[in-house]
Amino acid sequence: MENFVFHNPTKLIFGKGTIPKIGEEIKSFGIKKVLMLYGGGSIKKNGVYDQVVESLKRNGIEWVEVSGVKPNPVLSKVHEAIEVCRKENVEAVLGVGGGSVIDSAKAIAAGVLYEGDIWDAFAGKHKINNALPVFAILTISATGTEMNGNAVVTNEKTQEKWAISAKCLYPRVSIIDPTAQFSLPKEQTVYGAVDAIAHTLEYYFDGSDSDIQNQISESIIRSIMKSTEVLIDNPQDYEARANFAWCATIALNGLTAAGRKGGDWSCHKIEHSLSALYDIAHGAGLAIVFPAWMRYVYKQKPQQFERFAKHVFSIDAVGEEAILKGIDAFKAWLRKVGAPVSLRDVGIPAQDIDRIVENVMKQGPSFGVLKKLGKEDVKQILLIASQ
Ligand code: NZQ
Ligand code: ZN
Repeated sequence: MENFVFHNPTKLIFGKGTIPKIGEEIKSFGIKKVLMLYGGGSIKKNGVYDQVVESLKRNGIEWVEVSGVKPNPVLSKVHEAIEVCRKENVEAVLGVGGGSVIDSAKAIAAGVLYEGDIWDAFAGKHKINNALPVFAILTISATGTEMNGNAVVTNEKTQEKWAISAKCLYPRVSIIDPTAQFSLPKEQTVYGAVDAIAHTLEYYFDGSDSDIQNQISESIIRSIMKSTEVLIDNPQDYEARANFAWCATIALNGLTAAGRKGGDWSCHKIEHSLSALYDIAHGAGLAIVFPAWMRYVYKQKPQQFERFAKHVFSIDAVGEEAILKGIDAFKAWLRKVGAPVSLRDVGIPAQDIDRIVENVMKQGPSFGVLKKLGKEDVKQILLIASQ
């Protein structure tokens, strides 16, 4: 077990009928005016928008709205909203949606208080030390953004999908009402599952050892798989939605990171380039990259991959046979729930691999913890992913 500090400052309110609490929570910070940020309009169809607006009104909180945040959110929308915040003197940013909206809310909150271009922070040229308070109503469980300080945004001019992370970006309060996710299309539930599993695996496969952390991680993965299968048949199963939602939150709120080596994150770096270049869903890209990465790196710590095969997929074998069967079982499960598992499945030809590698390597000359990856390694992983 590595040394660690566990400090998560987000107040999380979870359960049926909790969205109307948002107004009083914001009011308790003495905040009188917020930017309400949302996406393409799903919140207007499923009743979430009405609940939020009613709660803000009841608590005397003024708001201005910016909508149209798209999946794989873009920098130009962040810039647009920063201008609105400045003109309207808002005191906080309330994101109502999924990772794309809440990540954008964080970038906006930091951008309002920075005189330069907030992209500087994504490019590592500015350290974020302060931001407007962020509040979140989560409508899709996947990213863990509701309880972490991370945000990922695409600079559409340069086709770079990069991340920021700062303590001040943790939402002050996040609300998760699992019933708000009854309206999710099947593929979004599946992509959310893949993302949450991938977050768990990034830590699980970073070369660290801790029995309790391994057991927590395996439980999260098995539980997500189980709830996902229930939700594919019945999207309105409350217990499965609630279970899935809590799993996704704890997959990236610091709990599974404790005692680890910081996570590997190679798959995420490679995936972000797929999203940046082809605008595919983050979970879809991870389903393509993760099994390929596993195949490429398992020799770095075979016992952990064998453990994964046994504890997650009950593979009855030993050594390399178990490892390869475990990776195959993971891939088969991804395919079964409808995720793409190869570049071909999303129409990306193998001829594009050099271009993808170039985009990935803009993030740095090498990365990864379990195995340091350079340009050639990334190419090999993408070649496996293209099969
Ligand atoms: O835009 P609307 O109309 O709201 O529709 C959204 C969107 O089309 C829809 N949706 C959301 N809630 C819904 C709903 N549709 C019906 N009913 C509901 N209740 O779902 C679509 C996808 O939304 P999005 O916010 O893009 O999904 P997700 O939460 O998976 O976020 C993905 C983004 O987060 C980043 C990803 O890279 C990607 O850009 N990530 C953020 C992380 C973080 N902050 O820690 C970590 C992750 O690794 C990830 O990189
Ligand atoms: Zn992710």
